[in-house]
Amino acid sequence: MTAVTVRVPAKVNLQLGVGPLRDDGYHDLVNVFHAVSLFDEVTAVPADRLSVTVEAAPDARVAIEAVPTTGDNLAARAARLVAERLGVEPLVGLRIRKAIPVAGGMAGGSADAAAALVACARLWDDPDTPRLSRDDLMEMGGAIGSDVPFALLGGTAIGVGRGERLTPVPASGTFHWVFATADGGLSTPAVYAECDRLREERGERAPWPRASEELMAALADGDAKALGAALHNDLQPAALTLRPSLRDTLAAGRDRGALGALVSGSGPTCAFLAESGNHAADLAAALNGADVAEQAFAAHGPVPGATLL
Ligand code: C5P
Repeated sequence: MTAVTVRVPAKVNLQLGVGPLRDDGYHDLVNVFHAVSLFDEVTAVPADRLSVTVEAAPDARVAIEAVPTTGDNLAARAARLVAERLGVEPLVGLRIRKAIPVAGGMAGGSADAAAALVACARLWDDPDTPRLSRDDLMEMGGAIGSDVPFALLGGTAIGVGRGERLTPVPASGTFHWVFATADGGLSTPAVYAECDRLREERGERAPWPRASEELMAALADGDAKALGAALHNDLQPAALTLRPSLRDTLAAGRDRGALGALVSGSGPTCAFLAESGNHAADLAAALNGADVAEQAFAAHGPVPGATLL
C-alpha cells in the first residue's frame, strides 16, 4: 500500500458542563460534542522512520508553527500506539494538512490523532480480518486524549467521564455555524485551572453536570432557535478572564443576529449559530469586516467522524 488519507472534522461543544476536579487531574464532564464541516487531512505514507510534517490547508490561517513535529505530536503518538498493538514498527511519514485552528478549542490535535489511528490501522492491519476493531480504536483514542474518540465517531454525541465515554445523540437536520478564530491559542489545562480558580474565588462548589433537556429537545427537533438559547459552556468565564477581548467577539455576533454565541471548548475560537446557510455567510462576512476576530468562516454540522478518502 502506498498512501492513505483520512479526513477528520473539528468539533464545537454545544454544552460543556464541568464538574469537580478529580484525583487524576481531570474534571468529570457532560460534554455535548457536535462535529462541523471544518476538516484536517492526515496522509500516512510508508517510510523508513516515523516523521510528521504539518502544512496549512489552502486559505486556512492556522498557526502551523505551534504544532510539534516531534514524537509529542498527537498523530505520532497515535501511530506508535497502532504499531505497538499490531506488533509492527511505526515506519510511517504523517503529513497533516490543517484547517482546524491550533489550540483553538476545536479539538484539532485530537482530530489529527483520530485520523492517524484510522490511517495507520489501514496501512498495517489485515484488511480481511482486522485485529483492531472500531471499538479498539475508540479505546486507544481515549488513551491519547479526551476528545479523540469523538473525532472518530463524529455526528453529535454526549461524552461523560473525561468526555471520552460517548453516546450518540439523535439530531434532525443541519445547523449552520460561524466560527471566529483568534490570534494565538489558549492552553486547555490553563483554562480548566482558571475555571477551578474562579469557582474557588466565588465560593462556588462545582456542580455535578447534567445534560440539558432543552438542548436535547432542540437537537431532536432540529430547532435552531431553541438550540441557540440552550448553548452553554462552563469554561467560558475562564476563557473570557484569560482573553477579555473575546467578549467583544461574542457581542459582535449577537448584535448581528446570531441565535446563540459561545466560546468553543476551552477557546479562544468563538462559535455562533445562524438561522440558515445564507445567514451564516452574511454573519461571517460581517464579523470579518468588524475586526473582532482573526478570521470568521461558515461551517455546518453534524458531519461524520474520521473518514478514509
Ligand atoms: O485529555 P486531554 O489531553 O485532551 O486534556 C487536556 C487537558 O485538559 C488535561 O490535561 C486537563 O488539564 C484538561 N481536562 C480536564 N478534564 C477533562 C478533560 C481535559 O481537566 N475532562
